[in-house]
Amino acid sequence: MDAVATLATLTNATIRFDGQIALSVKRLAIAKGARLAVTGESGSGKSTLLNALCGLERLNGGELRWGETIVSELGEFERDRFRGERIGLIMQEFYLYPDLNALDNALLSASFRFWRVPAALKARAAYLLKRLGVKADQAVHTLSRGEKQRVAIARACLSKPEAIIADEPTASLDSRNAAEAVKALLELAGEIGCALVCASHDPALIAKMDHRLKLKKGETIEADF
Ligand SMILES: Nc1ncnc2c1ncn2[C@@H]1O[C@H](COP(=O)(O)OP(=O)(O)OP(=O)(O)O)[C@@H](O)[C@H]1O
Ligand SMILES: [Mg+2]
Repeated sequence: MDAVATLATLTNATIRFDGQIALSVKRLAIAKGARLAVTGESGSGKSTLLNALCGLERLNGGELRWGETIVSELGEFERDRFRGERIGLIMQEFYLYPDLNALDNALLSASFRFWRVPAALKARAAYLLKRLGVKADQAVHTLSRGEKQRVAIARACLSKPEAIIADEPTASLDSRNAAEAVKALLELAGEIGCALVCASHDPALIAKMDHRLKLKKGETIEADF
């Protein structure tokens, strides 16, 4: 694969918890625009891999590179800024603020980055929520789980990231809402032209992705997508 097409690379990376290796990667390269499902049994390290890939979990050794940026060499503040600017994250438990409305939640990461959120971003948040069928002014604690997930998707897509990284984005949804969430993720990632990396146990989601990486506890990852 040529360097231009590579989005992110983990090289000789390990993560240990209490001395135990939770993640071991000889090399994992993800191409721009790739759609990758990360599968494997519970405890196999899917969340750990996603967290390593976005710089949320610090490596115990090795390198994480996104383009010219060696993320593993950045301090915590710079890694947070890198993630905010370049990655749309969707965590399993949504991490929405229940007392804010849908629009303010969709704008949450932007509001950390800008002293005053630009009008264009507010307009984009409103557009994404409308498109996803969520009322912008509804308080998040009154939304259904499916609607909360769509707010999380809107937030992840807001700043047109280079990758959307989602940890089990359909795990707590019924099949109809799960299918809608997958459709929205695929459509929006396609429009943005960004990569989509999802950890999942959901066969319907896994089938829709272009690539699959199956993790096994204790095995070293070596793969190019
Ligand atoms: N912060 C932590 N401290 C200690 N151990 C951890 C921590 N995070 C994860 N682990 C351990 O690392 C291993 C991998 O966990 P991880 O959460 O990545 O699995 P997973 O594949 O995402 O599982 P699931 O499908 O249940 O979400 C597990 O054995 C887990 O107990
Ligand atoms: Mg997990």
